[in-house]
Amino acid sequence: MAHNIGVNDMNNFTYANPTKIQFGRGVIAQLGDELTRLGASKVLLVYGGGSIKSNGVYDAVVAQLAASGIAFAEHGGVQGNPVLCHARDGVAKARAENVDLILAVGGGSVVDESKAIALGAASDTDVWEFFAKREAPQTALPVVAVLTLPATGSEMNGIAVLSNEETDEKNALVCPPLLNPKASFLDPETTFSLSARQTAFACTDILSHLMEGYLTTAAGHLPVQDGMIEGVAKATMESMAAIRENPADYDARAAFMWSATLAWSGICQAGIPAWGMPCHALEMPLSAVYDIAHGAGLSIIIPAWMRVVGAKHEPRILRFGRCVLGLEAPGSIDAVADALTDYYRSIGSPVSCTEAGIEPDIDRLTALASAAFQQRGMTDYTEPIIRDIYLRAL
Ligand code: NZQ
Ligand code: ZN
Repeated sequence: MAHNIGVNDMNNFTYANPTKIQFGRGVIAQLGDELTRLGASKVLLVYGGGSIKSNGVYDAVVAQLAASGIAFAEHGGVQGNPVLCHARDGVAKARAENVDLILAVGGGSVVDESKAIALGAASDTDVWEFFAKREAPQTALPVVAVLTLPATGSEMNGIAVLSNEETDEKNALVCPPLLNPKASFLDPETTFSLSARQTAFACTDILSHLMEGYLTTAAGHLPVQDGMIEGVAKATMESMAAIRENPADYDARAAFMWSATLAWSGICQAGIPAWGMPCHALEMPLSAVYDIAHGAGLSIIIPAWMRVVGAKHEPRILRFGRCVLGLEAPGSIDAVADALTDYYRSIGSPVSCTEAGIEPDIDRLTALASAAFQQRGMTDYTEPIIRDIYLRAL
């Protein structure tokens, strides 16, 4: 079958991913050996608000450290949308305790803050200087992750996201391979304790990572990338449905977990020409200012974005409607946006600010997003367009 592949459709790329993945039931039993192999003698154990203490993961990790004779200090209390002041505390602790590795145990927020601590602890520069792009990171302590919430892909990428609580800036620092975890442990059973809401927000995030490059590229058809993205997106939606039926369905949790990692490890996007992350740029101010879950922010933003600027990406959006959402003949962008809205509603992720319980300050959000677009060089996202998208998301 002939496709319209233009000569410039696939970009040159370099892809290297140094993160070792240990995937499956019971893999935490190999954590001690891996840490020993990496030469760790004392680690900073970073975690969130306590989910790992109630689902048994903390005990399993501490048992591994004890069995391998690895000392540890603790840095708990990482919040969703991790903040600079807490990361700075972690840097101070890592230095005071003289740790040689940062062990992240939790979701994307924990992994991201661990990466920030790993950077800050290895240099004299204040960690925000890196996130503000005023300094380029040169060195970092190694990070190992035990992932308990599959969504962000942080477990296998070189990205960290941190919010500055003083300025409301939420910045992504992209720095592979320095920020890639050396190893990540993915046991789907650790995700059985995720609530339906948390799983839904994870689902919207995974889909958004797959969609943004796919929808915004100027390419006509990319057989490898389109095939991978459509396949992983469908696997995400199918496993989401099975998890809603039975939250302890191991195979569904496993498919969901691996989909999350693949979606944002860079493998699916390698070679896609001319694409951007406008919906992430629009979402970051929402979760920074109103502290909502990143995935909830995305399900609010994406349909609004589609309705306002979708015309520019029409063929890709219609293809998404057909090949992922299963619409027989999506006649318009609005039809795809409607179907996506219905999907988000069906899994319990909000599709408007009202549904998320927030009354946003549109001027503030517009100013923050506009600065982010400028920084990314996406100058076609002017303030009136950004404002229009936020207004559609009310
Ligand atoms: O804090 P604890 O008690 O651990 O509870 C967490 C938190 O309340 C809970 N949780 C995690 N694992 C659980 C669990 N509850 C029950 N059982 C488990 N097994 O879930 C809540 C949310 O966790 P969080 O880590 O905040 O969620 P997520 O993984 O979605 O991470 C969101 C952060 O990652 C950033 C987002 O912007 C946001 O700051 N992102 C990072 C990216 C990256 N590094 O590549 C890309 C993404 O686009 C995203 O921007
Ligand atoms: Zn995301």
